[in-house]
Order: sequence, then C-alpha cells, then structure tokens
Amino acid sequence: MTDRILIVDFGSQVTQLIARRVREAGVYCEIHPFNALDDAKLKSFDPRAIILSGGPASVTETHTPRAPQGVFTQGVPVLGICYGEQTMAAQLGGAVESGHHREFGRATIEVKTDSALFDGVWGPGDHKPVWMSHGDRVTRLPDGFKVIATSENAPFAAVADEARKFYGVQFHPEVMHTPDGAKLLRNFARKIASCEGDWTMGAFKARAIADIRKQVGKGRVICGLSGGVDSSVVAVLLHEAIGDQLQCVFVDHGLLRLDEGAEVVRLFRDHYNIPLIHADASDLFLDALKGVTDPEVKRKTIGKLFIDVFEAESKKIGGAEFLAQGTLYPDVIESVSFTGGPSVTIKSHHNVGGLPARMNMKLVEPLRELFKDEVRVLGRELGLPQDMVNRHPFPGPGLAIRIPGDITREKLDLLRKVDAVYLDEIKRAGLYDEIWQAFAVLLPVRTVGVMGDGRTYDQACALRAVTSTDGMTADYYPFPHEFLGRVATRIINEVRGINRVTYDITSKPPGTIEWE
Ligand code: XMP
Repeated sequence: MTDRILIVDFGSQVTQLIARRVREAGVYCEIHPFNALDDAKLKSFDPRAIILSGGPASVTETHTPRAPQGVFTQGVPVLGICYGEQTMAAQLGGAVESGHHREFGRATIEVKTDSALFDGVWGPGDHKPVWMSHGDRVTRLPDGFKVIATSENAPFAAVADEARKFYGVQFHPEVMHTPDGAKLLRNFARKIASCEGDWTMGAFKARAIADIRKQVGKGRVICGLSGGVDSSVVAVLLHEAIGDQLQCVFVDHGLLRLDEGAEVVRLFRDHYNIPLIHADASDLFLDALKGVTDPEVKRKTIGKLFIDVFEAESKKIGGAEFLAQGTLYPDVIESVSFTGGPSVTIKSHHNVGGLPARMNMKLVEPLRELFKDEVRVLGRELGLPQDMVNRHPFPGPGLAIRIPGDITREKLDLLRKVDAVYLDEIKRAGLYDEIWQAFAVLLPVRTVGVMGDGRTYDQACALRAVTSTDGMTADYYPFPHEFLGRVATRIINEVRGINRVTYDITSKPPGTIEWE
C-alpha cells in the first residue's frame, strides 16, 4: 500500500494547504479532526508520519483540543505546526504560555543548528522569512528537544527531538508566505518519514480503475455529465475502467454558454465514444422559468427540474444500479467542531443534490480523495484537452443567475454573444489561466447611446473577472485599461442590442462572485 501521512486537524483555516503541500511532495495524506481519532483508529490508519495542524484554541486553557496520546507512541515521526507544536510540547512535558508577544504576519527566523527538517534548505546562521499567526508560545521544551530556530518573539520558533523524529514549528510552512515551507514539508515527508513519493496521478489512475472495476463488477453506471472539469474527468475515467457499462446523461437546460452543448456531445460521444444521452430540455426549463425573477426561486426551479429530467432519462436506460458523481476531497473532509463531536459537513453536489437518495442508487465517487488541482492533473493524464481541464468553474444554474430579472431565449442569446467575445479576448490576451472565473452579466437596464448618426436605446452589460483560490473569497481581476477598452468596443460593435459595457470591481466579500 502507498505510504500515507495522517494530518490531525485542530481547526486551522489552512489545514487543507498542509495536505496539498504533502501531496505535492508525492505522498498521500488524509485530514482527520483531532476528536474523531482514537488510538485504535490511529493504528488502523497506519501512518508513516503524523502532522498536527494549527488551530484557533489555546493550549493554556483546559478543555481545549489535545492530540490523542497515541500520536506520540506510534513510533512514527511527528511534526507539530503552530497549535500543533504547542500541544505537542505541553503533552510531552514542556510548557506553553499565553502570549503577550503575539506574532501575526511576516516574521524572520534565525536558524540555530542543522536539522533533518532543514536539510538542503536552511543552514545555521540563515535568516529566513516565515509566516506566523500565534498568540501563545512554547516556553519550556520537553526532554529530548532542542531549539533549531528562533524568531524575535518566539524563542522556540522551530524545535526538534531528532532521536524520536519529533519536530515543532511555530510558523506555518504550508502557506505561500513561508517561501521555503513546501521544501520543509517535503523534507519531513520524504526524508524524515522516508515516504516513497509514489503518489502520482499515474498511480492514482491505475488504482482508481481497479477500484471502480471491483465496486461495479458487471453492473451499469449512470453518470451526469455537465461539461465541467469534474464530471468530465469522472466520465472518461469510468469509461476507461468499465467501457460501455457506463452511460452518460447530459441534461442540457439551455442555460449554457455559446456552443457548449454541442461541444460536450462532440467530445464525449464523437471523440471518446462514450454512450451519451443528450437530453435537450431547454424548452422545459425556459417554460418553468417564465416570469421567475427571484434568484433563489430560479435556483430551486432549475434544481428540481434538473433532477426530474435526469431521473426520467435514467429510467429509460433501466437496469443501472450505480450513479457516478464528481465529489471532491474538500467536500468530504470532516470539519472540526469545538462544540461537540466532529461535525460532518458533506456538501451535496450543487447540481444533482438529492438525486442519489431519490433514485436509490449506489454511488461511485472516484474523485473523493482528490483536490481540484489534482483532478486537473488526472484529466491531463487521461488525455482530456487542455482547455477542458483548465476550464473555469461554471454554476449549475448557468446563465440564469447571470441575467437579473426574468429569463427569455432572446436575453440568453444576447448574453451568450457578449460572453463569447469577452472570453475570446481573455484567451487571446493569455489571461484565462490567471483568472478564477470570468463571465458577462446581462443587466436589466436600457440606456441611451449614440452610434453613427443615430440614437440607440439598448441594454447594458457588466463584465466580471475574479481571482480566488476556493471561491469563498475573491478579488476583482485588474485588467489593463486598454484591454477593457478593446473588449467594450468589440462587444458594442459585434453584439447588436448592447450599447454599454461596465466592469464590476467588487471583491468578495462584500460582493459575491455571481450577481445572483
Ligand atoms: P458566489 O456567487 O456565491 O459563488 O460568490 C461562489 C462560487 O460558486 C458558484 N456558484 C454556484 N455553483 N450552483 C453551482 O453549481 C449554484 O447555484 C451556484 N451559485 C454560485 C459560483 O460560480 C462561484 O464559483
């Protein structure tokens, strides 16, 4: 079995980044909340090493989180980060003090001695930038530990018991603001814990295919295809695993971008030869959306109809007991709750939420161990075209939530044209991959303009482009002015019915990414 590292989560905002850095080092790892682990679970997980995450609590208070004591008796290397360092120190006989010396943000540490953790990265006397975010600090080390780096406000900025292979860092090696952090985590995973580094997408693909075959046997699987990255990767992976036992269903709600429906059919049915039902339900959706202006009612209307159509198409196929979904790892990580047991926050897929229960099917979720960027690597491994793999996220309700007010076919057509010009310019400028999402919004406003010798009274549109890492927060993308000018000119020249273009410079929060 592949070497695995266990990450014990104490509720830090950036625990997922630890996992990503470890996986980038070629080592498989999983995140589990501290209070969902006991010694038996630790044993059965059989980690090659354990990382204790940061967290918002204070070790100096009673009833705050502790690592299961088994962490320190498994005989495997342990790395404590921030809160993880503090609880490790406290649990092994050291002391932690509530800080008058808080450190938030950039700090400089001074390396005191060589250490396996710093091997090939830092040496004695080096001054290095790191990211700190702590109020408490370790004030007395447990037996066997020594200081390997200090900072102005954290005399124990990095500590080590090289014999037991226990390490603690007060700073956060997992964030980008600690420029050498990824290398330190790599040292821990590959050199200190001696993990092979065989977590590659090639290896994952082979294992996933074997697992799918084992789970499905001779059964039939239905997969909802949307044209997005996740469902596309699931479909191609399943097809490699079980061939025509897979049946894809593409519910086309008519709210997609220009030519997108046709592209999905071309790629999956014609290129990959995947059995695909293209359920063109645009009339149904438009009818149901007639006169609907409330964003939430729009979403619910679309969501419900989507399930109805999907279910009806699946019934026609008959005989399938499995439903494939593109659930990702961030959707299944249990989050830490300080108020009770571990709270399980499994989000249902936006677009097909509720489907599995209603259809009474068994789930096939081959991506549930992967982060989004890993899904993209897997997509490339499977030979999916680059522009499909790098695609921006697209919301399930599609263009309906980019047309404030009621939806009509004419408005959709107009928006599609604007959107196509905008994206074309972004791609020509080589900016597509720098942007998390870019799209146009059709505003329910008519404004006066002048074109040639005539007065116009046409619609206005807004352009949006944001950068983000997870869609939870976002910044507007700072396009050069001449780029915006060029796009506006093209839209007004090429899209009859639009005479004004605006650019949305709201970040999230306080705005949201979508307009509805
Ligand atoms: P907001 O607008 O909430 O969007 O800042 C955050 C991310 O979620 C996407 N989004 C949706 N995706 N169904 C989806 O599948 C939805 O109803 C939905 N609403 C927003 C949005 O595109 C962005 O990536």
